[in-house]
Amino acid sequence: MTIISNDINKAIELLNNDDIIAIPTETVYGLAGNIYSDKAIRKIFHVKQRPLFNPLIVHLHSIEQLKEVVSDFPSKAQLLAKTFWPGPLTLLLKKNPNIPPIITAGKDTVAVRIPNHPITLSLLKKLSFPLAAPSANPYNRISPTNALHVESYFKNSIQLVLEGGTCKNGLESTIIGFETNEPVLYRLGAITLEEIEKVVGKITVKNKKEKVPDAPGMLAKHYAPQTKTYLVNDVENFLKNTNKKIGVIKFSGEINSSNIEHVEILSKSGDLKEAASKLYTALHKLDNLKLDMIVAQRFPDIGLGRSINDRLERATK
Ligand code: TXA
Ligand code: MG
Repeated sequence: MTIISNDINKAIELLNNDDIIAIPTETVYGLAGNIYSDKAIRKIFHVKQRPLFNPLIVHLHSIEQLKEVVSDFPSKAQLLAKTFWPGPLTLLLKKNPNIPPIITAGKDTVAVRIPNHPITLSLLKKLSFPLAAPSANPYNRISPTNALHVESYFKNSIQLVLEGGTCKNGLESTIIGFETNEPVLYRLGAITLEEIEKVVGKITVKNKKEKVPDAPGMLAKHYAPQTKTYLVNDVENFLKNTNKKIGVIKFSGEINSSNIEHVEILSKSGDLKEAASKLYTALHKLDNLKLDMIVAQRFPDIGLGRSINDRLERATK
């Protein structure tokens, strides 16, 4: 049985004993374990049913702690870290030899980030090791943005979800790697391409690679509800001739269609940040309503709208 609690001492005790727990972050909840504990890391892969070729993100409490895990910190990486950490930015950096290969799936880079969540930051400061944590969802399912989502996925396999409220950003971190020291974006996320480019200038985006991807989370199918999902430009038109049970996800405004069972408007005021923070909660909710299909209306392709469209596209695969 899982307990949902803010008992940080219990969290420390479990992590010190090679066990895993769920932790809150500003993006989504993570399934966390000691990066040096083979037992804990294997449990993460096992519980999540994640293939071993898909590496994990290492979570740190400070830039000082970074020295323990990476051997190279290019100047543009430093600039990005200084601007966005603690925050929803993951950097792929050359790993130190002491990082177990299971964390990085044998790669010579390690994914690192400093999460911006008070509870998890204080937990990390009290531990003598960094935490590896993928999103706390079974492989290919929707990421969890509150403690109850995690509990419903893993009630028989983890003891503790550290309660940290609803995730503020609600979308995974943006992943940036380096090719000959120049930044490359591998995963759209909670920090927009525009924000990154403001700091380091124009960068390459490689977020659509489908085969042997640099970031395996970028496989086409991901973040998927179990209900058949469509992403369309015009929901009303798409639904004209159907008599199915439909759930709709839409950015803002209203919708006029008689045969809709449930509508989630993600931001009445048309704010992409608010919409992003509510996206996964809406998908979780619609996916539990036993609908025939979920229809999402494409978001404007700028800023966080681009990240939202990316996740919705993957949800349709
Ligand atoms: O917001 C987030 O990043 C959340 C929270 C919990 O921090 N974590 C998260 O982890 O989204 P996960 O495992 O669901 O997604 C991490 C992605 C995966 O697609 C993985 O393949 C990629 O990062 N990744 C990790 N290490 C990598 C590496 N060394 N090289 C390339 N890709 C890597
Ligand atoms: Mg994930």
